[in-house]
Amino acid sequence: MLATAHTMALVGLSPHPVRVEVHSGRGTASFDVVGLPEATVRESRVRVRAALGQIGVPLHSHALTVNLAPADLRKIGSVFDLAIALGTLAAVGGMDGLLLSDTLFLGELSLTGAIHPVRGVLPRLVGAAAHGFHRAVVPRANGAEAAIVARAEGLEVLVADDLASVVAFLRGEGALSAAEPSGTEVHDPVADLSDVRGQPSARQALEIAAAGGHDLLFVGPAGAGKTMLARRMPGLLPPLSDEEALVVTAIHSVAGALPEGHGLVRTRPFRWPHHSVSDAGLLGSGDPPRPGEVSLAHDGVLFLDELPEFRRSAIDGLRQPLEDGAIRITRAKSSATFPARPMLLAAMNPCPCGWNGFDGVRVCTCTTDRVRHYRARVSGPILDRIDLQLRVEPVHVAALVGPPGREECTSVVRRRVLAARAMQAERWARGETSASTNARLAPRDLERVAAPDATGRAVLEALLGQRGMSARAYGKVLRVARTLADLQGRTAITSQDLLQAADFRVLDRPIDAEAA
Ligand SMILES: Nc1ncnc2c1ncn2[C@@H]1O[C@H](COP(=O)(O)OP(=O)(O)O)[C@@H](O)[C@H]1O
Ligand SMILES: [Mg+2]
Ligand SMILES: [Zn+2]
Repeated sequence: MLATAHTMALVGLSPHPVRVEVHSGRGTASFDVVGLPEATVRESRVRVRAALGQIGVPLHSHALTVNLAPADLRKIGSVFDLAIALGTLAAVGGMDGLLLSDTLFLGELSLTGAIHPVRGVLPRLVGAAAHGFHRAVVPRANGAEAAIVARAEGLEVLVADDLASVVAFLRGEGALSAAEPSGTEVHDPVADLSDVRGQPSARQALEIAAAGGHDLLFVGPAGAGKTMLARRMPGLLPPLSDEEALVVTAIHSVAGALPEGHGLVRTRPFRWPHHSVSDAGLLGSGDPPRPGEVSLAHDGVLFLDELPEFRRSAIDGLRQPLEDGAIRITRAKSSATFPARPMLLAAMNPCPCGWNGFDGVRVCTCTTDRVRHYRARVSGPILDRIDLQLRVEPVHVAALVGPPGREECTSVVRRRVLAARAMQAERWARGETSASTNARLAPRDLERVAAPDATGRAVLEALLGQRGMSARAYGKVLRVARTLADLQGRTAITSQDLLQAADFRVLDRPIDAEAA
């Protein structure tokens, strides 16, 4: 007898329907899986045989062939177990095969028949809805994630604990409960800006970066508060839109990074990989390819603390995704593309001793050569794309131990950020720009919405010449100036905006000029 059950494979975040066709014949007992199954899928025979045994369906008198179609799509992982078990059950006459049409099955089976959670349920169910399935059965532990799709796409999603209850349900002998939306969306706890004493320029840089979506680098000695400041960025950013939240949640789901029982990821991700992170961990890897930190930070913040300590190869590997907004992970047998468009936030010491350029505070003891060598570890192209670079000096000890001042808190700054973002979104909606944030404005956009007047142009040219900045830096200054004007609700960009924007280019200046 022949029976068919339905399930869903993923390539990157793209769902691909898989038909599990099971043929049962007479003859010597056998259990073959064909249709490009990887080892993990072939192993499912062991789990399926045991799980069916648990519900009283022995397979030892059947010659079974499982075909996973389409045959040219590689099948990896244990997610197909449930569909294979049900298709097999129908093929050996244990259930009417018609009951399996229209429903998508996802889940790994244990030897006892329990259904274990799997990765990527959210994007797989989006695929189920798109391919016209009316119903899906998923592991209970994936219920909160699955309910997001049920709500958004009108798919009936049921959760199950074990094979027996799914079989009972299909036979009309029992019920399965609907996937429940989780009360707890994923909101990371937010560190507040009011904890930071002083540091007016660094705070302002955070505000500008949040408002325009600019990348930001803090340069300063140890203890200056760089890490503390960076951790306050997520609180300043607007919440994810519904569409953004779906993509971010899908990436986390595929990476296995979605906390169990939680629903949609609502706050912008803040990923803080240690500088010892491997290229694979940062960029993504594996078979099937899994997203790395740069993708987990998509539409959020990728914080590279102690930037020069990262592997050169890892930093170099970031260039392409940061340019394209997506990363392609290629392995011998498979490849996949994941979104990768985070805001880049970085911190570094100016030199090995930490005090180069801070001579007013303490004198740098490094030779110019050592400083140059140290800076060279941070590859030019990455530094080049960071719009905002500024020095952070430690606040005076007296300011740290004194009574707390009245520092602005995150919610106040965030209100200004949101207003500035609204101006950018309006220009975008009116078709004046090709991007919804200033950081992503194309050169053509800049001519239209960030052109300085004659005075501004003269000021800027003098400044760029004097500091030896590149033509590329020119565009960055215009983008930041646009954000400064937006933060004040102005349409025109003033010379003041340009001067201030140009001040955020500390690393463009030659080292020798700093070390007096
Ligand atoms: N401006 C500040 N306001 C309050 N605390 C500060 C400030 N600067 C530094 N600190 C304190 O010093 C510690 C070290 O700061 P940190 O952010 O780790 O510095 P860095 O990353 O520059 O080495 C912080 O955890 C914080 O307790
Ligand atoms: Mg630090
Ligand atoms: Zn030094």
